Amino acid sequence: MQDPKRFTITAALPYTNGPVHIGHLAGVYVPADIYARFLRLNNKDVAFVCGSDEHGVPITLKAKKEGITPQQVVDKYHAIIKKAFKDFGITFDNYSRTSAKIHHETASDFFKNLYENGKFIEETSAQLYDEEAGQFLADRFVIGTCPKCGNEESYGDQCENCGTSHNATDLINPKSAITGNIPSLKETKHWYLPLNEYQDWLNEWIVEGHKNDWKTNVLGQVKSWTTDGLKPRAVTRDLDWGIPVPIDGAEGKVLYVWFDAPIGYISSTKEWAKREGKDWEPYWKGQNTKLVHFIGKDNIVFHCIIFPSMLKADGNYILPTNVPANEFLNLEGDKISTSKNWAVWLHEYLEDFPEKQDVLRYVLTANAPETKDNDFTWKDFQARNNNELVAIFGNFINRVVVLTNKYYDGKVPPKGDFSEVDTETLKKLNEYPQIISNSIERYRFREALSELMNLARLGNKYLADEEPWKQIKINPERVETIMFVALQIASALATLSEPFLPFTSNKLKTILRLNESGGTTDVVISVSKEIATTQKNESRKDVLGWDDVALNHELIPAGHQIGKAELLFSKIEDADVQKQIDKLEATKIENKVFVAEPQKDTIEFDDFTKLDIRIGTILEATKIPKTKKLLQLKVDVGIDVRTIVSGIAESFKPEDIIGQKVSVLVNLAPRKLRGVESQGMILMADTPNGKLVFIEPEGEVSNGESVS
Ligand code: MF3
Ligand code: ZN
Repeated sequence: MQDPKRFTITAALPYTNGPVHIGHLAGVYVPADIYARFLRLNNKDVAFVCGSDEHGVPITLKAKKEGITPQQVVDKYHAIIKKAFKDFGITFDNYSRTSAKIHHETASDFFKNLYENGKFIEETSAQLYDEEAGQFLADRFVIGTCPKCGNEESYGDQCENCGTSHNATDLINPKSAITGNIPSLKETKHWYLPLNEYQDWLNEWIVEGHKNDWKTNVLGQVKSWTTDGLKPRAVTRDLDWGIPVPIDGAEGKVLYVWFDAPIGYISSTKEWAKREGKDWEPYWKGQNTKLVHFIGKDNIVFHCIIFPSMLKADGNYILPTNVPANEFLNLEGDKISTSKNWAVWLHEYLEDFPEKQDVLRYVLTANAPETKDNDFTWKDFQARNNNELVAIFGNFINRVVVLTNKYYDGKVPPKGDFSEVDTETLKKLNEYPQIISNSIERYRFREALSELMNLARLGNKYLADEEPWKQIKINPERVETIMFVALQIASALATLSEPFLPFTSNKLKTILRLNESGGTTDVVISVSKEIATTQKNESRKDVLGWDDVALNHELIPAGHQIGKAELLFSKIEDADVQKQIDKLEATKIENKVFVAEPQKDTIEFDDFTKLDIRIGTILEATKIPKTKKLLQLKVDVGIDVRTIVSGIAESFKPEDIIGQKVSVLVNLAPRKLRGVESQGMILMADTPNGKLVFIEPEGEVSNGESVS
């Protein structure tokens, strides 16, 4: 599309069965927000919509697990997610929810319309049924082997391993996720979208038509499914949580969550348009509209096959111009998992690192899983902050602002005569908007961000080469020009960083007084545009747009008063990230599944009776010097009081175990440990986190009683 009139940008509606984590952010919300902000900064007409995906089995399962209703689950997480997105600076024009009335109506109407136009196949067939639970097993209620890739834990509607979407009856060895039972078959009626009829069209539109502009990971998946052959897919379910199927004879049935959720993009646009006094239809039906879906790779089938087929079946809607799906982000080498709590949750990050939204945005973009799965580590987070944001971007700005205040009381000096280097530097600066645009328009956000950092590097190099701090004594007139040029670079950074680092951009504009609330009263800047700013709710207006940086005019003119220096970024200390690493370690221990060692070789009863195990009481305990693990104990074992050396010092403090009842192997041959003779062994059990526990009798048992 050459010059679209408007943009409809969607970000996958998050399931409301848990909070949002860094995997969601890196895959979907950060790139989508960069894209939307970039377009707004270029004065484009944008509707950036999202909302909570509140139907579907994951929510029912979560409600069952927590003993609350599905509505309570979605109310809780909708509030957490919505607030976290806002605090993180994700500038949705509208964040809706699929339980909203407008969505129920929109999805019902969409279904009814297809139904009335004969777009569905109505079919009664045998479906998986759990007798014990008394319900049909669809989607995540059933687990079995994927017919395509052999993954043994595929869900009824989708395999998370290969991404394929299938019917529950296609699963090999299906098992109920509710009871673990093997399901029986029971007849039931459903409505199917005959995807097979759309196959040729999909092939032509995507595989052929978009072979040069869609991402290879997306094209690859689509090609593989169309080659395998598409089958009709049921778009209704026998469940009690969802949007009721709006036709007669469908009592007790709801729409399949993946039928209703993408329609949520349309409902959210309607909600927004209504609030803004706009017409929603051009955003979904206008031929000059560019529709872009930001999603993770597990959503490709739904956004490239099923939803487009629904839109095509309706016939009135536009199709996505692109679906720039990302791969997955791992965390410290392991797959992020909501159920295993292996994640960095956005709302917790914002509590632990308030005011550091941009650091996370930066790291997630610099390390975005655009072409392959990537890994997030806290060490990398710290390093990128300290070595890139602080040392490159922050350092440049700080030098410029400090020197301008020091030499000129914060007034931009006159530009004087440009040297070749100055002209060259400013020329390069003018090229950056185009360089960064090119990358963003191709959905290469990592590349775009690294170019932004190259602009900051250009600034640092310029100052390092021109050395105003030395020149000030020799040639103060030259320093005026140097600082003028450096201030232009700082202003360009303030503008071009906005899509990536909106909080920083805002702070920098305030320092440089580049926005109206910053007060540029004594200067009239030639270009002034109203554009969306970092905090959409604030009515702050920037004076510089994206293109202003490209045009060769003064971004910040001589005589303009700037503010005082303030640090844009601060160093992240080892202790700050260690805390996060410790938190993850604790999760690992909680998740550790105990696997019992195999049984040892068989022994005879006589072998066992040779062991003399008695109950005893610890009377004294002292640490053996220069050892980590050893405690020297005095233990009353009924027969006598004896010395035992035990390797338990990492689990217990000596003073805490006086009086402790223990089981002791008393006839073990004495042996010397660190010069102390040990006359027996205390029996202990190991635990997953490495902490030892005593084998102690329950109830009153005298010292010397034997254990057999
Ligand atoms: N809730 C889905 C997920 O988290 C995404 C839904 S996207 C939409 O994977 F298109 F259905 F809205
Ligand atoms: Zn599979």
